[in-house]
Amino acid sequence: MSGQPVSLQLVRAGLIGHPVSHSLSPRIHGYWLDRHGLNGSYEAVDIAPEALAKRVADLVTRGWAGFNVTVPHKQSVMALCGRLDDTARRVKAVNTVVVEADGVLKGMNTDLFGFRENLRRGAPGFVPAKGPATVLGAGGAARAVVEALIDADVPEIRLLNRTQDHAHTLAQTSSKPGTICILPWAERATALKGATLVVNTTTLGMTGAPPLEMDLSALPPDAVVNDIVYAPLMTDLLRQAQARGNPVVTGLGMLVHQARPAFAAWFGPMPDVTDDLMASLRPASETAP
Ligand code: ATR
Repeated sequence: MSGQPVSLQLVRAGLIGHPVSHSLSPRIHGYWLDRHGLNGSYEAVDIAPEALAKRVADLVTRGWAGFNVTVPHKQSVMALCGRLDDTARRVKAVNTVVVEADGVLKGMNTDLFGFRENLRRGAPGFVPAKGPATVLGAGGAARAVVEALIDADVPEIRLLNRTQDHAHTLAQTSSKPGTICILPWAERATALKGATLVVNTTTLGMTGAPPLEMDLSALPPDAVVNDIVYAPLMTDLLRQAQARGNPVVTGLGMLVHQARPAFAAWFGPMPDVTDDLMASLRPASETAP
């Protein structure tokens, strides 16, 4: 941002994962570094699972302030973190690491924040506490979504996953197991009855993945539908929901909002999500709702 001092020392951060080449995170952080006039860098580093500990130690030696963590390291990196924030402990996954002044790695999870902020801004009048939510999937992303819904006092979370055991494990290790009702994957159409929110946290519907087959006929017309898949931006689920008049929230905002506290932790300012930034990330062929 003009008028702000440019710091003299380069602050380095980035993303570790495998693969990372298609990540939008360098563009998001690059945009904010530029906007805030900061002397920082953010680069994506591909690290194979067996090299994780050594490569992370290298980044620390090279003076990195921290890094984001993506698939497949979100759980395994926890073993390298001498400290964990409360959210990382609850979600049982780390997506952001800060190298603290004493050299200890602090693991954080900002996915919960990202989901909450995206929903809050994408569906402004929506009150999560008013009714049941149906969540599809029981992977790492689902865990952050479920904890965010628990925080928002959702009275009942209907959890459906292809592998039902994964849903049971998620529920048992959540901070409020009594709120979670597990239903068979085959019952996803009936699980929409009376729901006020539907969230797809599976990879189904993503470019290159199989489609998510959903019959939305039982879904109340005012229920909010959120897909955390953002490529494509308008998934089949969202298109189908939009065609029947349901409010829809795309997944790109979750990615951008989870990046905000990470940026603040390494570089200082808490950045905002501008229309400009969102437009620069959207594929030209797609229009956000
Ligand atoms: P993430 O960290 O993005 O949540 P993940 O932990 O690998 O990724 O979770 C992927 C989710 O998509 C899981 O809920 C997975 O279901 P399983 O637990 O049964 O594996 C779901 N998923 C992936 N492929 C699927 C498919 N073909 N049909 C149904 N669910 C699928």
